[in-house]
Amino acid sequence: MINLTRGVPPVEVFPIEELIKASEKNLREDGKRVLQYLHAPGYPPLIEYLAKKHGVRKEEVVLGNSSLELLQFVTLTEMKPGDCAYIESPSYDRANTLLKRSGADVVGIPLEIDGVNLDILEKELKKRPPKLFYIIPDFQNPMGTTTCAEKRKQIAKWAEEYDFLVVEDAPYRELRYHGTAIPSIRSFAPDHVVTLSSFSKTLAPGLRTGYLYGREDIVKRITAWEVDTYIGSVTPTQGQVYEYLNQGFFEPNLNKLCDLYRPRLDTLLNSLDKYLPNAVYPRPEGGFFVGVTLPEGNSMEKLLPAAADAGFKLTDGRGFYLNPQDGDRFLRIPFCSLSPEEISNAIQSLAKIIVH
Ligand SMILES: Cc1ncc(COP(=O)(O)O)c(C=O)c1O
Repeated sequence: MINLTRGVPPVEVFPIEELIKASEKNLREDGKRVLQYLHAPGYPPLIEYLAKKHGVRKEEVVLGNSSLELLQFVTLTEMKPGDCAYIESPSYDRANTLLKRSGADVVGIPLEIDGVNLDILEKELKKRPPKLFYIIPDFQNPMGTTTCAEKRKQIAKWAEEYDFLVVEDAPYRELRYHGTAIPSIRSFAPDHVVTLSSFSKTLAPGLRTGYLYGREDIVKRITAWEVDTYIGSVTPTQGQVYEYLNQGFFEPNLNKLCDLYRPRLDTLLNSLDKYLPNAVYPRPEGGFFVGVTLPEGNSMEKLLPAAADAGFKLTDGRGFYLNPQDGDRFLRIPFCSLSPEEISNAIQSLAKIIVH
């Protein structure tokens, strides 16, 4: 069975020895603090480290048990049921679910190869501006696309003009295998953007250590929400992550990850070019995914059972769209957990059951 469903790091990349060292050092030196109740916003040394890394004040950072949880808290503190929220279409299925669950009227803005379609966005803004716009600007999940600098600037300008909050979710930003980084949306409108990230993709998802940075009043509201909900997020892993960063393990590990994932991405793109030349897909420069729109004549209804018979587990592309039918020919292909050889074989075999 070839699993092309989950966008998770392969288990062999977890730096277990370094994490043991980091945890031991932190527990020995600061165990009394990390094992006691610690009120939100989280473990102060990690907050200070992240504030410095991202060029913000420590009052502008809050930690949480994963970035998904922080996304939920943003929807709970910054929106009311019945408010409007925008999301790229397609987008991360769990973000779609969280926005809908918050009671928002969720509007999908079609995603192009370099970010959302600005003409459609402008039309929607004129009809009903949102309270919140959730965007994954770098190596988007599920598409793999990156929002270009011009679109980031324009979205930031509109956020100021129409007074909405952009939630910029950037867990893949540092996993860049080609090209150069683009300034964050937040850099163009710091008062109207909060940035979410976590150590799930760059270190290990089981740590469930996420963070948000942005305007102090928003950070304060999320902090108060955390205190009321569970006092504070889980601290021993925050201490472990802090020591891991502080001891200089992060950068070399990130380079190792990029070196491992780069040929996997390149092989996937080459295999798609070769075996599925009529499919439409972006050429991501990083991240975990390539989003593929299959030629006409394909449908999830037919493809999923055929793929299962051929030994593949695929994600139903309809789950990434607010209107599921829009994803009827959409396939998200995660490439990080498979070797180049496995990727090439997988696409070659998959092409045999795809109409092209
Ligand atoms: C865009 C995006 N945001 C958030 C997450 C989840 O991250 P975390 O483990 O920090 O909740 C994922 C994981 O797939 C993701 O793709």
